[in-house]
Amino acid sequence: MSNWNTFFGPITAGESSLKFLDIWFSKNRINYSKVIILTDSNVYQSCMSIFFGELNNIGETAVIEVEAGEESKSLQILSELQLAMLDNGADRNSLLISLGGGVVSDIGGLLSSTFMRGIDHLIIPTTLLAMVDAAIGGKNGINIKGFKNLLGTFSSSKGVYIYPEFINTQADGDIISGFAEMIKHGMLSGSSLWNECLELRSMSDVKKLITKAIGVKIDIVQKDHFEKNGERVFLNLGHTVAHAIEYIQGHNVSHGNAVAAGLFIESEIAFDKGLLDKRDLKKLQVLIDKWWSRLKLANDDLLEGMFGDKKKSSNSKDYHFSLWLGPGKGARLEKVSEKEIKKAQERYDKD
Ligand SMILES: NC(=O)c1ccc[n+]([C@@H]2O[C@H](COP(=O)([O-])OP(=O)(O)OC[C@H]3O[C@@H](n4cnc5c(N)ncnc54)[C@H](O)[C@@H]3O)[C@@H](O)[C@H]2O)c1
Repeated sequence: MSNWNTFFGPITAGESSLKFLDIWFSKNRINYSKVIILTDSNVYQSCMSIFFGELNNIGETAVIEVEAGEESKSLQILSELQLAMLDNGADRNSLLISLGGGVVSDIGGLLSSTFMRGIDHLIIPTTLLAMVDAAIGGKNGINIKGFKNLLGTFSSSKGVYIYPEFINTQADGDIISGFAEMIKHGMLSGSSLWNECLELRSMSDVKKLITKAIGVKIDIVQKDHFEKNGERVFLNLGHTVAHAIEYIQGHNVSHGNAVAAGLFIESEIAFDKGLLDKRDLKKLQVLIDKWWSRLKLANDDLLEGMFGDKKKSSNSKDYHFSLWLGPGKGARLEKVSEKEIKKAQERYDKD
């Protein structure tokens, strides 16, 4: 079992995490008027009976279910959920549990931090991506008109309980999406995670890397809770390009594949700028090609997608990327020109 006390709340990970959650309920259930579980249609099928099987002290609950998928991260669904909370008798003293992947924890975080100006929240991630990334660090959000996470808050939770066995029922493609974020954590960390990602032979062994990957994300977030003094922005590694790909190709591309392509292209730019060693670039590319097919980007104007993403923060024409400096060396925020982006994209297409 691993435990961390973080700025955004305690985190517990390991095979006994649900037992620890049950102990938490035995002490705290009495404080809550209602316990509402937010989940999605797939998680309801795959994880709900395991969840209830481990919890003897949770008492009476109500379950609210959203459709599985990114489309649920919308204003429409958020307002429907606020009303569903009322319909289920929730009040200021209620507890919301988000049981699901990053979609559920992102909506649940926003819902709990805004319903009646904020109620207590517990997060139980059920995908690899949510375990090592989305459930950690307090960010939540929904999408508006294709702009990812345009509306969101930073919010604390009463606890994040990570039970790795939940990923046993995940689709292979979804597990690989989580692995892309794990690689990103490995690239940034000075720990052995990078080498373990390079050496991973089968996705069935990926659970062994979860605790280390969580630790990397926590370390970074603890140094820069609200992405104000630099360090947390490094977690965007690969994501400027990934969000552009997702913006252009929509749901034809998985998040993991977009992140993998983003890590590849952005590392080419880092190499061009003399920030990254050729051997480290090659290792990353071999790793990415081992798990993902190259996307067909030749006819895509990544700049168009990037401009869409940028509209959220500024009107200037400059692009700022978190560029990788090598394993254990972290990243650096650098201005990148349109020409540099195009050149790196061409190399991804041609190689
Ligand atoms: N808040 C953050 O810091 C942060 C960080 C990274 C990503 N995100 C967000 O996370 C989201 C992606 O998360 P995700 O990859 O977990 O996607 P997801 O929540 O959509 O889950 C992927 C699919 O797996 C299903 N599923 C979930 N758990 C399952 C299980 N145990 N067994 C079988 N099926 C299961 C879901 O129903 C869904 O169909 C994106 O919206 C992204 O923006 C947020």
